[in-house]
Amino acid sequence: MSIRHLTVLAGLALGSSSAQAAEAPTYATVAPLVETNCVSCHGPETAYADLRLDSEASLLANKKAVIEAITSGYMPLGDEGWKDTEDGKTVLSYLNAIP
Ligand code: HEC
Repeated sequence: MSIRHLTVLAGLALGSSSAQAAEAPTYATVAPLVETNCVSCHGPETAYADLRLDSEASLLANKKAVIEAITSGYMPLGDEGWKDTEDGKTVLSYLNAIP
C-alpha cells in the first residue's frame, strides 16, 4: 500500500472518530446510569430534597442543579469521585448538550 493510501485511510479514521465524539449521549444511554446512581434517593419511593430524577422531564427540569451537584462532587452522596468516572462524564455531557 502506498503512503498516499495510508494518509487517506488515516484521514477517514480520524474523521469518523471525531464525529462520534461530538455526538452527545441520548437519554436512553443516560437513564440507566441515573437509575443506578441517583434514583434510589431521588425517585418514586424516596425523593430527598423533593427531587425526582426518574424521567427525562424531571431530569431536564432540574438540569442546572444536577450539573452543579455532580460537578461539585456532592452527588451521588458519598461518592465524590463519580464525576470523573465514565458514567459521571456521560451524564454530564448529555446535560451540557441540552440547550
Ligand atoms: C444515598 C442517597 C443519594 C443518592 C444516591 C443521590 N442523592 Fe442527591 N441528594 C440526597 C440528599 C439526602 C439530598 C439533600 C441534601 C441536602 O439538602 O443537603 C440530595 C440533594 C440533591 C440535589 C439538590 C442539591 C441542592 O443544592 O439542594 C441534587 C441536584 C441531587 N441531589 C442530585 C443527585 C444526582 C444527580 C444523583 C446521582 C448522580 C444523586 N443526587 C444521588 C441523597 C442522594
